[in-house]
Order: sequence, then C-alpha cells, then structure tokens
Amino acid sequence: MTKIVWHGHLTFSIQHNGVTLLIDPFFDGNPAAKISKDDVKPDFILVSHGHGDHVGDAEYIAKKTGATVISNFEIVTWLQGKGVEKAHPLHIGGGANFPFGRVKMTIAHHGSGLPDGSYGGNPGGFLITFNDGKKVYFAGDTALTYDMTLLADENVDVAILPIGDNFTMGIDDAVKAVKFIQPKVVIPAHYNTWPLIEADPNEFKRRVESETDTKCVVLDVEGTYEF
Ligand code: NI
Ligand code: MN
Repeated sequence: MTKIVWHGHLTFSIQHNGVTLLIDPFFDGNPAAKISKDDVKPDFILVSHGHGDHVGDAEYIAKKTGATVISNFEIVTWLQGKGVEKAHPLHIGGGANFPFGRVKMTIAHHGSGLPDGSYGGNPGGFLITFNDGKKVYFAGDTALTYDMTLLADENVDVAILPIGDNFTMGIDDAVKAVKFIQPKVVIPAHYNTWPLIEADPNEFKRRVESETDTKCVVLDVEGTYEF
C-alpha cells in the first residue's frame, strides 16, 4: 500500500512499505499548513527547486531526522554547506536507485533561485518508481511543457500537478498536462495558499473527469490517498 498525504501548498508525504518520502517540505510560513516541521519524520526529502516555498524546512528536517535529501546538484551542495550530511545530487534527465525505488528528475519550466540569493540550478520534477512498479509523477512548479507527452509511456499511477496559475500552470494548462501524461489519478496542488494562486480544484476535477479518462482526487490539507 502506498499512501500520499497532502500537507498544503506543494508539500507531500508518500509512505511506501515503511519508507516515508517528504517532498518540498514547507511548514514554517505556509498559511495552508496544519502541522509543523517537527511533526514529520521522513527517511528521504525530495526538493524540486530552490524557491523558499519548496526548499522550505528541508535543512531543519534533514538535520533533525537524518533524512537523505534528493535534489539537484546545486541545492544539494548548498544544503551540505549548511551542514546537511546525507544528500544525493541528481540533475534533469538523470535518475538513481534508492532502497525504495528509482527517482528520476524531470524538466520543469520555472526558476530555482535559493532564498539567500544563491544559485539553485535548474528547477525540476520527479518521476518516482517504487520497487513494486507503482509510479508517482511530481511535476514541481512548472509551466505546461510538451515534454510531458513523454510521460504517457510511463503508465503513471498518480500525477501531482500545480493548478494555481500565476507562478505555474493554471487549470486550463493543467488539464492539457493530464491529457499529455494520461495518469490513472491526478492530484491538484499549489493553489489557494495565497490570494495570488487562488483556484477552484473542483472546477479542475470536473474538467479532468469530463475531458479525460483520469480520475481527479481533491485532497483536504492532511488528507490522504491510498493506492
Ligand atoms: Ni517556485
Ligand atoms: Mn512554488
């Protein structure tokens, strides 16, 4: 059983066979968060890009829990410079095997500057293939990209897509992304954290389920989806 938990914004936990991945951990300063950075105990922390609402509490949680950080080379180097001990650098198009499965970094069209102004490399997303074959695609912050059509070959079980517009895809483009990726399930995120990214997830769900064969799961904050 694989369990996905939405912590608000684009912060997710995925629990699989006793291993917990925490993606884009943003608790401090996240108006949508209902738990704190001290409430999570991940084994791995994945960071899609350098913006503060994604790298967020990665340093704190990695140091406190000893979790291994997986991110691009620049962000991993930046975190190691702050004393994070366990980290694995990837870059776009590359993947690596971990005890739970494989993580491949995918293209995102966005920025990646770190909160202190350091260079954060290129932004990315993650294609996670667990050892039992289940696949989760986490798009990160991104525009619609035609490269998403390549994911149709992957038989993605769950795609996590931003729908909030302004900084990322909005609903129109996220529906197109679903048509490109053809996942079994899509979970919308990166919306309603602030007024700038207000969006109606139920409008997204109606569009997805009327225009595609994909099921849309709208989670509440701390809501879960198991598959
Ligand atoms: Ni961003
Ligand atoms: Mn963001």
